[in-house]
Amino acid sequence: MKKRILSGMRPTGSLHIGHLVGALDNWQKLQDEYECLFMAADWHALMSEYESPQVLKENIIDNVIDWLACGIDPEKSIIFIQSHVKEHLELCMFFSVITPLGLLERCPTYKEGLREINNRDLHTYGFLGYPLLQAADIMLYKAGIVPVGEDQLPHLELTRQIVRKFNNLYKSPFFSEPEALLTKVNRLLGLDGRKMSKSYNNYIALSEEPEVIARKVQSMFTDPLRIKVSDSGHPQECNVRKYYAIFGRDEIRVIDERCQEARIGCTECKKELAKILISFLGPIQDKRKELLKDKDKVLDILREGEEKAREIASQTIQEVKNLLFSNSSAFRSKSGRHSRVNGNPERV
Ligand code: TRP
Ligand code: SF4
Repeated sequence: MKKRILSGMRPTGSLHIGHLVGALDNWQKLQDEYECLFMAADWHALMSEYESPQVLKENIIDNVIDWLACGIDPEKSIIFIQSHVKEHLELCMFFSVITPLGLLERCPTYKEGLREINNRDLHTYGFLGYPLLQAADIMLYKAGIVPVGEDQLPHLELTRQIVRKFNNLYKSPFFSEPEALLTKVNRLLGLDGRKMSKSYNNYIALSEEPEVIARKVQSMFTDPLRIKVSDSGHPQECNVRKYYAIFGRDEIRVIDERCQEARIGCTECKKELAKILISFLGPIQDKRKELLKDKDKVLDILREGEEKAREIASQTIQEVKNLLFSNSSAFRSKSGRHSRVNGNPERV
């Protein structure tokens, strides 16, 4: 039996090369070894982007197209939209009744969100519950492993706490505590050396046109100590070099030498890097264009993923209900109308 993995991404904007090396590459590799579920976390996106829900809808399809173009394979993995499987909310509700407020209020991502995000009001019930819905996402599929970046570790820890509390209260062990699989990221910084992020506008989108890639790469910060071309450079201090380390492994030795010996200027070095990026993204963009022409196929993939996800999800909810409400037969209709008929959820 393959172990099960679940991961999700919030559809808040176009995907960029940071998502590729930080998550998608990893997802793609995990597909053979594990039973994988990959989800567009639109509820989670809505918690902060509730003023523009329409944009989220467009992002979902656009992002899923990028996933497919990067090798996420619907033959191997279940790809679906979180809000299409209502059971996420149902399990979240079960978890909410046992979750102390303090646990959510102390969560570092919650505090950071309130501190850092000033252009909308996040003092909401929904945003406080962000990690709780994530716990439900994971446990709904009894995923044992959750590939995430470091920033998500508090959410995994919270999930484990909820699981322990649930098990202690109702039945041990009903859920198993999931493990984080830390994505070993060759951390790719943005063009300006800060974290790569949509809000800093310092990224290269997966769908970026070649001219735009060339222009954006030319705008990158380099070794601050290298002012004239004749100065010898310090490639270890240079963000451009970090990009080479990920996308241009074959060239990196030569670049290091030429930079240190002042035999290449930064403009030329970046020109080369742009070429490498353009040819790296080429096949992904070709596949993306193909999929954009056939959106029905993408919708079919999502529909199929949704059905498979729901099959697992409804089973878990059924088990949870049986566990908590096992003496609830009194609520069932005498006629049996509401009793369990093959596969139909039992009402309580
Ligand atoms: N919070 C995650 C992020 O921002 C996205 C997410 C939602 C997720 N549900 C999940 C990740 C479940 C892993 C498992 O990256
Ligand atoms: Fe960076 Fe390349 Fe300039 Fe060296 S030559 S400082 S590696 S951009």
